[in-house]
Amino acid sequence: MAGTTPRPALRPSAGAPHARLLGLGAYRPSRVVPNSEVVLGIDSTDEWIRQRSGIEERRWATDDETLRMMSVAAARRALEDSGVDARQIDCVVVATVSHFMQTPALATLVAHDLGTDQAAAFDVSAACAGFCHGVAMASDMVRGGSARHVLVIGAERLSEQTDPHDRGTAFIFADGAGAVVVGPGDEPGIGPVVWGSDGEQYDLIRSREDWRDVLTSESPRMPHLVMQGNAVFRWASFQMAKTGLQALDRAGIGVDDLDCFVPHQANNRITDAMARAMKLPDSVAIARDIVHQGNTSAASIPLALDRMREEGQARSGDTALLIAFGAGLAYAAQVVVLP
Ligand code: UT7
Repeated sequence: MAGTTPRPALRPSAGAPHARLLGLGAYRPSRVVPNSEVVLGIDSTDEWIRQRSGIEERRWATDDETLRMMSVAAARRALEDSGVDARQIDCVVVATVSHFMQTPALATLVAHDLGTDQAAAFDVSAACAGFCHGVAMASDMVRGGSARHVLVIGAERLSEQTDPHDRGTAFIFADGAGAVVVGPGDEPGIGPVVWGSDGEQYDLIRSREDWRDVLTSESPRMPHLVMQGNAVFRWASFQMAKTGLQALDRAGIGVDDLDCFVPHQANNRITDAMARAMKLPDSVAIARDIVHQGNTSAASIPLALDRMREEGQARSGDTALLIAFGAGLAYAAQVVVLP
């Protein structure tokens, strides 16, 4: 307008040219629960569970292994692995569906426990896809300039939310936490994310009731997770391979350039179907953490990465394809270079 001083252009935020994973850590609860224990509550067998899901045993948290405790333990290991001090963390993201306080976020407590009270801290609710959502956001934060170092934690305590008498879920879900530190890199270490959701299929995996229904019920009970397993199974087996190929394409690499395939640990048969559909060569190491850990939702990918590294199937500098999928139905996939 005439006579008014023009508004100065805002300074654009500017971050690092590239982002990468700097460190990885995990926490596995101490209690090992074999199939023989789970089948006490459901009409099933050890053989059926192994054949249909791949699970031989899972980890369930003890009373002392709270969501907060497991998150902090995994985060400390990731920080140590990265060589980054907690006080250098600008943002803490916890991906979880197991934090039973509507507000504030668990991430604020985790940041406090780690001694990084100045960091931004918030939770992400994208169920089993949450960890890959967190990594995508962290990569953009580092490159966009809103944070230099971001701690991304996937943590769940699903044993508490699982009905031990529900044949469709009792043998699947488990507990644990995994974390990565994302920071600046000299070259791209986190490829573009391919992500999305399908709210039309909202009912396929969800809490049985919302909290208001629980509270107004005559006999209040935990709103356990319910799942139409076979429908999710078919969706994941067909759609997620396409998502994985898109993530490879967006990263500018092909299946022959991959060292590791680390999908959400939902079911070994889904993993097999995806690997077949993407035509992964035999040289690609495939994560099978579910066999001993069960399905830990947002924690499953960092836990699986941790095991692969520990067992020598994955090494620093390897290229890995991550694909996460679950309730929502939400999904996210990206290629990363391992720390
Ligand atoms: O993490 C979030 C994303 N979650 C997932 O991706 C999970 C995806 N779904 C799955 O992993 C599988 O659907 C399950 C492992 C949950 C189930 O396997 P399925 O091959 O899809 O089984 P189904 O539901 O199609 O049932 C097949 C048969 C049925 O018997 P009939 O009708 O063929 O006689 C079921 O009654 O298996 C029976 N069945 C069981 N038998 C023993 C279902 N659950 C059980 C059980 N034990 N727990």
